[in-house]
Amino acid sequence: MMDKKAFALSLVFYLSCLSCLVLASDLPAGIQKCSIMDENCLRDGMNYVIKNFARKGIKELNLVQLDPLLIKKFSLGKNPKSPVNIDLTFTNANLLGLGDAQVKKVTPFSKDLSREITLEMMSPRITLTGPYVIDGKVLILPIRGKGDADIVLQQCKVHAVVKLRPVSKGPHQTFAEVVEVKLFLDPSRVTYKFTGLFNGEKAPSENFHALVNESWLEVFNELKADISTAMGLIFKSILNRTLGKLPLEQLFTGV
Ligand SMILES: *[C@@H]1O[C@H](CO)[C@@H](O)[C@H](O)[C@H]1NC(C)=O
Ligand SMILES: *[C@@H]1O[C@H](CO)[C@@H](O)[C@H](O)[C@H]1NC(C)=O
Repeated sequence: MMDKKAFALSLVFYLSCLSCLVLASDLPAGIQKCSIMDENCLRDGMNYVIKNFARKGIKELNLVQLDPLLIKKFSLGKNPKSPVNIDLTFTNANLLGLGDAQVKKVTPFSKDLSREITLEMMSPRITLTGPYVIDGKVLILPIRGKGDADIVLQQCKVHAVVKLRPVSKGPHQTFAEVVEVKLFLDPSRVTYKFTGLFNGEKAPSENFHALVNESWLEVFNELKADISTAMGLIFKSILNRTLGKLPLEQLFTGV
């Protein structure tokens, strides 16, 4: 007869094997496996991941926490040809709000990954917040300062174009590598708040805030390309890490 301890051990063994069987056929975190060409399933799966895991990440998929997303360094460089000619650097900043984003549409993958994937998303509010240093000229105003800043993109439509390429590491071991993520941001309004401008002098700081509040679109249009490029690189690295964890054959059906 089996004693109690041996029974308990075999039960643990049996249960843990059950969970390996489940893991072998399913994705971690209760994510439903989609056909690589089923765009509704892909969209719903992304929304499931955003809603349930943006705030904690998914270790088994190498997916980092997305909300808040820690950004060690975020820099925009001077552009003398632009009316918004600034060096702006955030260090150890946070990007907030991706957890409330909604994927509206995603185009299906092609089996060989040759087709670009486009994503349409909507985020009610995306905030970049943290310590900053700024120097340069915004429209007509020279600007200089150091402190904490919030840049808020309200009702932001995000259009993303993702290019992948397959890397085969053996039979049923096709990994997707991210070649490029291009982002296009279209907020309905942008607000800017900087503490510590002009060594804390009140009047020029108020002038600056009034100007960028009034001319938010012009300012954003000048910065948009650089912001989108910087964010695109961040998402490229996040997505590449996640896609590097499991082969496409395990992530999707119909591969
Ligand atoms: C920003 O501009 C809007 C009008 O575009 C105005 O209603 C609002 O009071 C301004 N906010 C600040 C902080 O100046
Ligand atoms: C993507 O991840 C793979 C490993 O999975 C790595 O070899 C490659 O350099 C990464 N590419 C980028 C652009 O990060």
